Amino acid sequence: MNRLTCLLLCILAAARPAFANDAAIAVSDDTREAYTQAIPALAETDRAKFLKGRALVRQVWVIPPSENREIAGLGPLYNRLSCIACHPANGHGFAPESAAEPMRAMLVRLSVPGKDPHGGPLPHAAYGGQLNENGVPGVTGEGRTEVHYRTHTVSLSGGEMVKLRQPEFRFVDLAYGDFPASMMTSSRIGSPIFGLGLLEAVPEGTLVALAAVGKPAGIKGKVNYVWDAELKKSVPGRFGWKANMPNLRQQIAGAMVGDLGITSPLFPQENCMLVQSDCAKSPSDGKPELSAAQLDATEFYHFALAAPQPRNNGDKQVKRGAVLFGKAQCAACHVPELKTGEFAKYPALSNRTIHPYTDLLLHDMGEALADHRPDYLANGREWRTPPLWGIGLAQKIEARAGFLHDGRARSLLEAVLWHGGEGAGSTQAVKDMTAADRNALIDFLESL
Ligand code: HEC
Ligand code: HEC
Repeated sequence: MNRLTCLLLCILAAARPAFANDAAIAVSDDTREAYTQAIPALAETDRAKFLKGRALVRQVWVIPPSENREIAGLGPLYNRLSCIACHPANGHGFAPESAAEPMRAMLVRLSVPGKDPHGGPLPHAAYGGQLNENGVPGVTGEGRTEVHYRTHTVSLSGGEMVKLRQPEFRFVDLAYGDFPASMMTSSRIGSPIFGLGLLEAVPEGTLVALAAVGKPAGIKGKVNYVWDAELKKSVPGRFGWKANMPNLRQQIAGAMVGDLGITSPLFPQENCMLVQSDCAKSPSDGKPELSAAQLDATEFYHFALAAPQPRNNGDKQVKRGAVLFGKAQCAACHVPELKTGEFAKYPALSNRTIHPYTDLLLHDMGEALADHRPDYLANGREWRTPPLWGIGLAQKIEARAGFLHDGRARSLLEAVLWHGGEGAGSTQAVKDMTAADRNALIDFLESL
């Protein structure tokens, strides 16, 4: 950029309220309901569908057969009774505090070496692709996960010390045999579910361009390509901690069957492996248990969930933090601004300017964060840049909200200090900052 263009663009940028989202798709709300609001552009005629989707996401499902077929279908194997158990108030999940506490807002993905026919992880013959702790009466839950922490202290310039905890997962009460030594496991907390329609509406070309664009030394970024079960081809991955899901419809139908044991038109088979004969014999309600209309409503709810507007973005300290965010190269991955394209599935999301702070790309985040479990093109060290919009409200909405894929980080600062690999330069920059600058950076994150 030459000086004249910068002069023009920079003045324009400064004149805009910093980082605000298009008012039609974001809400000014800093209450505990901030992640549960519809976009202001929601048509009145669509409100009933939005509310129906919301009810399904909050629904405590029951074991079939039941009088009320609308909400029956839980199991045979499942993790939780509802979606929001792992996505409290639509926000971040959290990790157990100690080995004595069960996983509440978290699950464990499983696979063995090799790939499925579509390039995805190869499920284990008995346990499948996910550890389901619970079973309906007559069906034994697969097992439990204990989390044990090792802590170490990091010192920052200015003398501040931060204690970090590294989780180690142990699998106990395994009902279908010991895990083989080759079993790969990946423990993940539920991620926020608002604003995702807008991320689905970002054109594929933008992701490809973001991967190709020049970045600061040491930072790359790649698109995951994953199987689209409806289109029956590989498309860019966008959702999940490794961008392992192509779109919300498949993510939701996958969660229904994988986390709750509810079949849908997209995934009509119960989640029972061949050796789990009690599971296969167990009653199922309706074929499928989630109707096409229910799946549509749940998808629509996700499309229409707004992101919160940033707060205090006129504050001097917050503005300084925004500059430091750029200087520490956070913005190379947490890309502040994207544009959506034409989005036929829900045209209200088309051609919007959004500020999600993600590139939706995979990055090598180093050994300490690695799960050593490939997921399509993501290797064991790669994770998708999570969006940061709304993150300042996370612990206001759920006091225990955890950060990073396994919820190990208890604060935003801890989350940053774990960045290794391509993010190592950013971590170093934050460690080297004066305490005042570090506080300004955190204030900026808190404002999002
Ligand atoms: C047992 C906990 C659990 C339950 C129950 C659960 N989820 Fe999730 N959810 C997760 C985890 C963990 C992820 C990240 C998945 C990954 O990385 O593979 C996730 C990811 C998602 C995402 C993508 C978020 C993003 O930014 O990429 C959506 C949407 C979602 N879940 C919706 C649902 C819906 C709808 C239900 C109910 C049908 C549900 N979830 C039930 C744990 C859960
Ligand atoms: C190389 C790309 C990259 C850079 C540079 C980067 N991040 Fe990240 N960030 C990620 C990825 C990927 C994750 C998820 C890692 C995981 O879950 O294990 C993440 C996670 C986070 C989280 C936790 C989000 C959540 O929902 O749990 C915060 C906060 C964060 N980054 C802030 C920052 C800040 C501040 C900087 C600059 C000081 C920065 N990041 C630099 C890629 C990056």
